[in-house]
Amino acid sequence: MSREDVIQGDAIAHPNVALVKYWGKRPARGNLPAMGSLSLSLGFLATRTTVRFDPAGGQDTLTLNGSRNSRDLKRMQDCLAPLRRRAAESGSATVDSRNDFPTGAGLASSASGMAALALAGASALGLVEDLDLVGRSAMAGSGSAPRSLHGGVVLLSIDPEGKWSCASVLAPEEWPLKVVVAVTQTGPKQTDSRSGMELTRRTSPFYKAWLESQKADLEDAGRAVAQRDFGRLAELSEGNCLRMHATAMGASPPLMYFNGATIECMHRVKALARDGRSVFFTVDAGPQVKAICLPDVLDEVCDALGRVPGVQQVLSGDLGGGARLVGG
Ligand code: PMV
Repeated sequence: MSREDVIQGDAIAHPNVALVKYWGKRPARGNLPAMGSLSLSLGFLATRTTVRFDPAGGQDTLTLNGSRNSRDLKRMQDCLAPLRRRAAESGSATVDSRNDFPTGAGLASSASGMAALALAGASALGLVEDLDLVGRSAMAGSGSAPRSLHGGVVLLSIDPEGKWSCASVLAPEEWPLKVVVAVTQTGPKQTDSRSGMELTRRTSPFYKAWLESQKADLEDAGRAVAQRDFGRLAELSEGNCLRMHATAMGASPPLMYFNGATIECMHRVKALARDGRSVFFTVDAGPQVKAICLPDVLDEVCDALGRVPGVQQVLSGDLGGGARLVGG
């Protein structure tokens, strides 16, 4: 069947922050993570992506925050590939994506970007009912992107054969956690997560131990979430975050995503927790610090992190819902 009209899809997704992180892919298995992960959806940050398929053909293009971007074009094409295979013919893709937060600096813009793209692409091609396909398309773009299709607290499980599934385990209203992001640096990071985790897998002597510790962390964190046990989740998340970074620092050459303000923010969060405040930190592959807290201490946490020298901006808000179509 052929088509002459341009078709279009438009979607919004929130970035997510992992409390139990994945860092390392399965060798020779496409883009599949080597381990499961658990994340929170950041409802106060968003990516909106529009995709148009033109049957007349031509080159695929990507515009990110108003500028043509060739660096991430391949990743965008990887994400659309499962949808295009299913649709048989699609034409050239014109993708326009905008973040309302700093891009490429460890705020998980690839997760929200690829989730929004997968959903928008599926909508344009009439494939949105096939949730499995939308998930695979998001995964082909980024290992953390399937999590951004879902809201609240999200679990991505993966078995030793590489069979994976992703679902929300708690809706945002079931546990009103707050997230505070301390932005310590804007602009792209030095080593993107895809090459950073591959370097770590190949060269860090700590990688095997990291991989082996993940299953227990994931199970324990899942239990802490089910019981709304903030203290236990705090302990597990901070431990998991620091173990991921220690593993990356063990790579050759070493990977160090922290700057001075990142470390100072972590100390401030620990000091607040020592004073009895319900708050803990996590840091992804970038210098920003995310503090997770209960609503009664939100103002205090924002204030404390805002005072750390080197912190440029503090963003905060609630957990968000899953990706959604716009005007669809
Ligand atoms: O798949 P990516 O490129 O979004 O990598 C995600 C890596 C971390 O954010 C550090 C961990 C995670 O599970 O989100």
